[in-house]
Amino acid sequence: MNDLTISATEYQSRRRLVLDQIAEDAVVIIPAASERIRTGDSTFSFRQNSDFYYLTGFDEPDAVLVLAKVHQQVRFILFTRPRDPARELWDGKREGLEGAVKHIGADEAYLFSEFKERLPTLLENRRQIYFPIGQCAHFDETLIQAMTGLQRMVRRGIQAPQQLCNIAPIVHEMRLIKSEAEIAMMRQAGAISVEAHKQAMKACKPNMYEYELEAELAYVFAKRGCRHVAYSSIVGGGCNACILHYITNQDKLKDGELVLIDAGGELYNYASDITTTFPVNGRFNSEQKALYELVLSAQQTAVKLIKPGLRWDEIQQTIVRVLTEGLVALGILKGHVDTLIEEGSYRRFYMHLSGHWLGLDTHDVGAYKEGDNWRLLQANMVLTVEPGLYIAAGSEGVDKKWWDIGIRIEDDVRVTSEGYEVLTPGLPRTVADIEAFMAAS
Ligand code: GLY
Ligand code: MN
Ligand code: MN
Repeated sequence: MNDLTISATEYQSRRRLVLDQIAEDAVVIIPAASERIRTGDSTFSFRQNSDFYYLTGFDEPDAVLVLAKVHQQVRFILFTRPRDPARELWDGKREGLEGAVKHIGADEAYLFSEFKERLPTLLENRRQIYFPIGQCAHFDETLIQAMTGLQRMVRRGIQAPQQLCNIAPIVHEMRLIKSEAEIAMMRQAGAISVEAHKQAMKACKPNMYEYELEAELAYVFAKRGCRHVAYSSIVGGGCNACILHYITNQDKLKDGELVLIDAGGELYNYASDITTTFPVNGRFNSEQKALYELVLSAQQTAVKLIKPGLRWDEIQQTIVRVLTEGLVALGILKGHVDTLIEEGSYRRFYMHLSGHWLGLDTHDVGAYKEGDNWRLLQANMVLTVEPGLYIAAGSEGVDKKWWDIGIRIEDDVRVTSEGYEVLTPGLPRTVADIEAFMAAS
C-alpha cells in the first residue's frame, strides 16, 4: 500500500468550490464509469471517470454524484451499488450505502438502481442542471427526459429546470491547478516511472523484442505500486520510433538502431508520462548523436523557460526555433531559419505539439486558451515537455544516413511559484550519461 492519499477534507472542499461557482438553485450530477466487457464475461480493469473521482475519491463503478446547496450548505448525495455478500465473494468488497456515508462522506446514499426514479425529486425547484454534456448519450437522455417530464408538471406548482449546463469546464479548470497532495502523488508516479525507464535501459540488448522492454517497464510499475499504465507503453525500435503512438511492440530490436520508449505509470489514477530514446547496443552513431543532442537541446531550453507568466505557445515556438536551426546546421533543412519556420518546414520531422497538461488524465483537462489568447502558466500547473524528431525512411531530399531515426525526449514539469520542478528527474539524458549508464549495466 502507498501512504500517499488525498484527504476527505480536500474532496469536501473541492465539492464546495464547485457549488460556489454556480447558482444557489442549480444541481450538479456526475456519473461514475461502468465496467466494460473485454471478452465473454471478463471485464477490462476498471478505471474511474476522472471528474467523478476528483470530487469523491470513490473508486467503484455504477455510481452517481449529486451535489446541490440546501440553505447554503453543501448536500452530497451518492448513488451506489448495494452491499451484496454473494457478489462481493467473487468481485471484492463494496462500500454500499453505509460506506458511502461513513467513508466517502456522502450526506445521503441511495441505490444506483433507484437513480432514475429519484431523479425528478432531485431536480424539482432547481433551475439549472450541470452535468458532463455529451460524454454518455444514455445519461444525457435520462436527464433530458426527467427534465421534460417535470416541465409538464408546472401546473401543479412544480418548478422545473430550464437550462442544461456543462459541468466539465468548471471541474476541469479546478483540475488544472494541482494541490500539494496531488503533486506529491505525481512526484511519486514520476519517480516510479523514472525507475522503470532506467530498468528498461539497463536490460536492453540487441535482438531482444520490443515487448521484452515493455515487460521490464511493467515489472517496475507493478512492483512499485502503479497498478496500471497511464497509457499503453510505446516501445519502438528503428523505424517504429517514427510512428508516434506505436504500441504493437512486437519487433526485434536491432544492433545499431535507436529505441524510443514512451511510458508512464499511473498511481492512484494520477499519470506520469516519460519518453526516453537510447541506442539498442548502448552506443550512439554520429547521426543518432547529432539528432539526439538537437532534441535534448530543444527540450532543455524549453524546460528552462517554465515559470508563472510564460505563454503556453512560447514553449512550442522555442522548440521549433531550436529544432529548425539545428536541422539547417545539419543540412537536413535548407534555407533561412525564419522563412523555414514561417513555412512550417519542420513539420515534416516534428509534427506534434510541445506537450500537454498532465494529471488524472495523461492528456489532462483544462483550457489552453483564454478567449483568443494562449494561456499563461500558473504555479502548480503540471505539463509535459516533449519535443521530437522523426526521419522516416524515404524522406525525400534527406540523405539516407538520417533515415529511420525517431527521437522524443519527454519529462513532466510542475510550474512552481518562481520557476519549475521536473517531476521526473534522475534519468540519464546526455549522450555521455546514457552510454555510461548502459555500459555499466
Ligand atoms: N504518451 C502520450 C504523449 O506523450 O502524449
Ligand atoms: Mn508520452
Ligand atoms: Mn506526453
